[in-house]
Order: sequence, then structure tokens, then C-alpha cells
Amino acid sequence: MPQIIDGKLISTQIKDELKEQVAAMKAEGVSICLAVIQVGNDPASSVYVNNKKKACAYIGIDSLSYELPEETTQEELIDLIKELNDRKDVNGILVQLPVPKHIDEDAIIRAIDPMKDVDGFHPQSVGALCIGQPGFVSCTPAGIIQLLKRSGIEIAGKECVVIGRSNIVGKPMSLLLLRENGTVTVTHSRTKDLQEVTKRADILIVAIGKPKMITKEYVKEGAVVIDVGIHRNEENKLCGDVDYDDVAPICSAITPVPGGVGPMTIAMLMNNCVESAVLNR
Ligand code: GUN
Repeated sequence: MPQIIDGKLISTQIKDELKEQVAAMKAEGVSICLAVIQVGNDPASSVYVNNKKKACAYIGIDSLSYELPEETTQEELIDLIKELNDRKDVNGILVQLPVPKHIDEDAIIRAIDPMKDVDGFHPQSVGALCIGQPGFVSCTPAGIIQLLKRSGIEIAGKECVVIGRSNIVGKPMSLLLLRENGTVTVTHSRTKDLQEVTKRADILIVAIGKPKMITKEYVKEGAVVIDVGIHRNEENKLCGDVDYDDVAPICSAITPVPGGVGPMTIAMLMNNCVESAVLNR
């Protein structure tokens, strides 16, 4: 049977390391604060935002919470971001996505000071990642690198195939794997003969957004499979983009859903908040 990569355990280890670091910083008089903004009351977003605030409390990071009404204008939101950009006591600013349709998401992301862009979504952060300069890295792909490293999985020289090219996961994921000296292929909805490409992967990262799409026909024997998807099936049970029961027997390591990639996103957000405070102190 494969190695089951325990994201819950690894994320707890990271959060405990950060908790210690934050306590040491506090002893030197440095406090850390994340501002979290949610516009509207999408229930899924509320769950994510609450989990982020809980993680802050666990680690010892202060959080400021802004719950703005659905009707908030783009200008009002940008004014709040500018105010937070100027506040010396705020280290990180996070606007929970998606924002309501009348607000231009890109304009919001651009309004955040790149020094406080703990989501790693600002074009300056993405550009820095692309050319190997320091900057914040998108949390889910950064978490996947940690999962691989902390599970003793070598990336250098490996055939890495990423399914999906989103700005939040697929693109930064491929850049991070490249930075770790993997040989990287990015596939997407227009890729011809997807199975032929994914079957080459030593490390297969799946971020398509289709429940259980990846069956063993897409996977090479002995591959490492990382599942970014999260869906609720007909029986209200959580599942990923990978058909776990079908794929697990043939791979060398795999992430479960839930308890794989999911918990790592918040752990890396916390890591970025601490990093922001270290850089700006
Ligand atoms: N919505 C879904 N995932 C994310 C995330 O990582 N950050 C933000 N800001 N919004 C999200």
C-alpha cells in the first residue's frame, strides 16, 4: 500500500513550529497581525475565514476581521485596503475570494501592498516567484512543496505533471516545482491525450476541479499523487479530483481528501504572516 501523506499532521507540525517562533518574537516585543476582509456572506467563504482566524489564535497572531456588506463598492473596499497598507501594526492583508461580481478582483489584488500580500496573489509576488526573487508564494502550492519535502519525496530531476493552470494553484505550482529542479509539464482542458502525458509523471499534481476524474488509467505505477480537489459527493461525503480507491493501490504515495492538501493552505498562510513580520520588523 502507498505512503499516505498526512496533511493534517504536517500542518500541525508547521503551526506548532510557528507558534514557538511567534512566542519568541513576542518576548522581543514584536506582535503580528493579519487583517481578513470578507465582502458579502457566502457560507463557504465564512467557513474559510473562520478557520483562518482560528489558526491565528492558535499560533498567537492577532487578527482583525472586516465583514463588509454585499453592496460594498470597489472604491470603499480599496479605501479600506489602503488604510490597512498604511497601518504599521498590520503585517498581512487577505481579501477572501471570490468578491461580489460588481467588484474587479484584479483591482483588489493590485491594491494590496506586496509587502503585506500574504496570499501571494499580487502580480509583483507572482513575478518575483517566476524569476526566483524573494516574495510571498501562493499558500496551496507552497503547502504542497512542504508536504513533499517533509514526506522525504525528492523533486529534483523528477517528471512533474500539473493538471490545471489556475493563477492560485496550477501556475504557481509549476513555478515552484521548477524552482525545486523538477522537470515540469503543465496540462489543462485543451491538452491532447491527457492520459499519455500524466502517465509520464513521477509526481502528479491534480487541480482540475472535477470529482474523482483521475483514475488509475492516468497514473504511472509508483507515482506520487497530490490531490488538490475538494468536493461533496451524492452522499454528502468529501472527495477529491482523484478516485482515491482506484489510484491508491498503484502509487507510492498519495494525499487523502480530506486531510491532505487542505490543511496545508492555512498553515502556509500563517507562515507568510510570520515571514511578513520578520521582514518588516
Ligand atoms: N478563496 C479560495 N481560496 C482562497 C485563498 O487561498 N485566498 C483567498 N484570499 N481567497 C480564497
